[in-house]
Amino acid sequence: MRYALVGRFKMEAEEKKGKEELVPIFIMGKRYEVPPSLTIQKAMEYAGYQLIRGCGCRGGICGACGTVYRYPGSYKIEVGLACQTVVQPNMYLTQIPFFPATKSIYDIEKIKPTIETLVKAYPELLRCLQCNTCTKSCPMEIEVMDYIAAAMRGDIARLAELSFDCVMCGLCTSRCPAEICQYNIAILGRRLYGKYVAPKAEHLTSMAKEIEKGKYEQMLRELMDTNEESLKDLYNKREIEPEQGDEEWTPKDKTYL
Ligand code: SF4
Ligand code: SF4
Ligand code: FES
Repeated sequence: MRYALVGRFKMEAEEKKGKEELVPIFIMGKRYEVPPSLTIQKAMEYAGYQLIRGCGCRGGICGACGTVYRYPGSYKIEVGLACQTVVQPNMYLTQIPFFPATKSIYDIEKIKPTIETLVKAYPELLRCLQCNTCTKSCPMEIEVMDYIAAAMRGDIARLAELSFDCVMCGLCTSRCPAEICQYNIAILGRRLYGKYVAPKAEHLTSMAKEIEKGKYEQMLRELMDTNEESLKDLYNKREIEPEQGDEEWTPKDKTYL
């Protein structure tokens, strides 16, 4: 990580400074005073850190900002996403923007949706102790142990379903005593599910073929040649599907359906 002041968040926080009492927090062991309403991410920037790694969407989606922290006198390691967790006085924290997890390489065209595939790619899967530490570490409140159990049974659909909200932050993996990389097993499961198990979306296949045949080429070229004002006009006048529209709804202009 490189450290430097970050303008926008510093200014936002400075505005709050006059209104709020500051609270102490410890970032990688060093004491700072920050406004208590800030998230860990903004507090780090307020303290002068520039987040080159460990910061992406700022909205709890990308999973880049996995953070561990502890309160004085507590044995318990707490976890959270830095962009979603508000600071607490005296918390000791650090981010784990990257965790060196196992990552298997496979050709999705050449594998099958079976337990053998999962175990071959991640043999450590069978070391799971069912301790539930992963579930307790997950900031997305995912039943991680349960999706690992589904993987151990070869239940690809359940694995895909239970892990769907995973943001791949790596916090579960960082705590697992069996050294399993849960989220990479989960993404293999979701790929297998999408490729082999989920019902095929026939309309998607036919649409992709039409795109390949060039159905939209002319329209896209015309759009690219349209000036900005006309584009805004087209956008503002576009037909929008009504919020309460039923499944049979179609636009009046069916040229590109
Ligand atoms: S932390 Fe590891 S060993 Fe424990 S339940 Fe989760 S996957 Fe299994
Ligand atoms: S399952 Fe693991 S990697 Fe996915 S969000 Fe939860 S803790 Fe993060
Ligand atoms: S920055 Fe993307 S989840 Fe926090």
